[in-house]
Amino acid sequence: MKAMAAMMSMPPPPPSSSSPLASQSLSVPSRQASNLPVLTIPGSHGWPLVGPISDRLDYFWFQGPDTFFRSRMEKHKSTVFRTNVPPSFPFFLRVNPKVIAVLDCNSFAHLFDMEVVEKKDVLVGDFMPSTSYTGDTRVCAYLDTEEPKHGQLKNFALDILKRGSKVWVEELQANLDVFFDTIESDISKNGSSSFLSHLQTFLFNFLSKSLVGADPALDPGVANSGPLSIDLWLGLQLLPTVPILAFQPLVEIFLHSYTYPFALVSGGYRKLYSFIEQHGKEVVQLGEKEFGLSKSDAIHNLIFTLGFNAYGGFSVFLPTLLGTIASDKTGLQARLRDEVRKVCGTSTGLRFDLVKDMELVNSVVYETLRLNPPVQLQYARARKDFQLTSHDSVFDVKKGELLCGYQPLAMRDGKVFEDPESFKPDRFVGKGKELLNYLFWSNGPQTGTPSETNKQCAAKDYVTLSASLIVAHMYRRYDSISGDAGSITAVEKAN
Ligand code: HEM
Repeated sequence: MKAMAAMMSMPPPPPSSSSPLASQSLSVPSRQASNLPVLTIPGSHGWPLVGPISDRLDYFWFQGPDTFFRSRMEKHKSTVFRTNVPPSFPFFLRVNPKVIAVLDCNSFAHLFDMEVVEKKDVLVGDFMPSTSYTGDTRVCAYLDTEEPKHGQLKNFALDILKRGSKVWVEELQANLDVFFDTIESDISKNGSSSFLSHLQTFLFNFLSKSLVGADPALDPGVANSGPLSIDLWLGLQLLPTVPILAFQPLVEIFLHSYTYPFALVSGGYRKLYSFIEQHGKEVVQLGEKEFGLSKSDAIHNLIFTLGFNAYGGFSVFLPTLLGTIASDKTGLQARLRDEVRKVCGTSTGLRFDLVKDMELVNSVVYETLRLNPPVQLQYARARKDFQLTSHDSVFDVKKGELLCGYQPLAMRDGKVFEDPESFKPDRFVGKGKELLNYLFWSNGPQTGTPSETNKQCAAKDYVTLSASLIVAHMYRRYDSISGDAGSITAVEKAN
């Protein structure tokens, strides 16, 4: 009843995939009440140099991102305010740290409205890692929808997902079995399994085969070193933006003050390039022939999609999902197990269409993404002057200003999600599915459709369905598992 009441008072959802607007852009909730007050955006960027450095130290050291955004939201009594975000002074002189933070569902949704914002080179803010990390080319995620190449590359990504979908489910399950075999063997030897490296091996093998059509087993060097090479390549390019709260002030001095050269990881990157060139020929040629890409553009974009988008995204998301389920003490596992077995009935294998009927499993996946969005920050630059609407106010934004959405807070918006800080496994079941309009982990609502005209994650549905399939696979194999986001300590095999 309370949930229904909350829904009634909720802002109108962004248009769903069935809306004619959705094919053009993922538009924002309309400015629902024209009588909302137009206010000046609170907060300031502070004194030159002093403001940015003090905000940087708060963000990386004294507060951490969550307290950083939360405390300013409370201080300004507003979900929209001005602040600085790192990296900044002294060695990032060309990076402009000034942003407008947007922390409620309404204001956050402007980040998806390609009519009013552009997404050129703002994947991780005004700072952009050197293009030497991506073969001296600006890959899809850095392109704005108005750049023609974005359409070519986005359609290429959507197409390889569609073509790979036949092997996707098979590879996912085959590699999952290897993953769980390794965990069992660790538990029997050591009493527990710290599973991150096993998970990353599983992801690298499964994603190489299903996205790029390249089998790491054909190149033992890459099979062994691929996951670590990607970790280092990702870590090095993102280092200036990644919060590390331990070992301060050393981290500020040595890790957050300059960029590191691609040369440090170029060997591993070159191996990945040759691996895809040699073993992913079919997919590379598809990029050349059907999407008009040069061979090197196709390969650099495949490495980015495989390594940054897919492997990187799942490496953050899956430990949280496994940890949430494995550490539950409320009886959730028995409910998940019952649903999986009921829906599967006598069928031997799992399929996406079976998984779609598992309401609780899907809801647990969505709720995990809501409380722990794997990509916490999203940025977009005002394409023109426009008015930005929060739940209770309207603000004037000038062309060129950078919006910064911190998703963990937007996804705890109490005007949309009842009891927003709690993990509620059934939140998205039944009528709760309407809340999918406000689930933004993919840089767009879960009801949206990724396309060349927006910047929503190309694999929006593959990610959630794959996660549900992993949970379903687990409960066909086990009655229960115990552990947390870092390790599995016990598994009880299904009878
Ligand atoms: C858990 C896994 C994943 C997460 C959390 C994730 C998240 C995201 C997010 C937040 C964005 C938008 C970034 C921004 O512009 O601010 C994005 C973009 C993108 N993702 Fe994913 N992603 C995941 C998996 C994948 C996979 C498996 C693919 C494989 C095709 C993929 C392909 C892409 C592409 C191509 C873009 C760029 C879209 C564009 O430029 O229009 N992602 N992803």
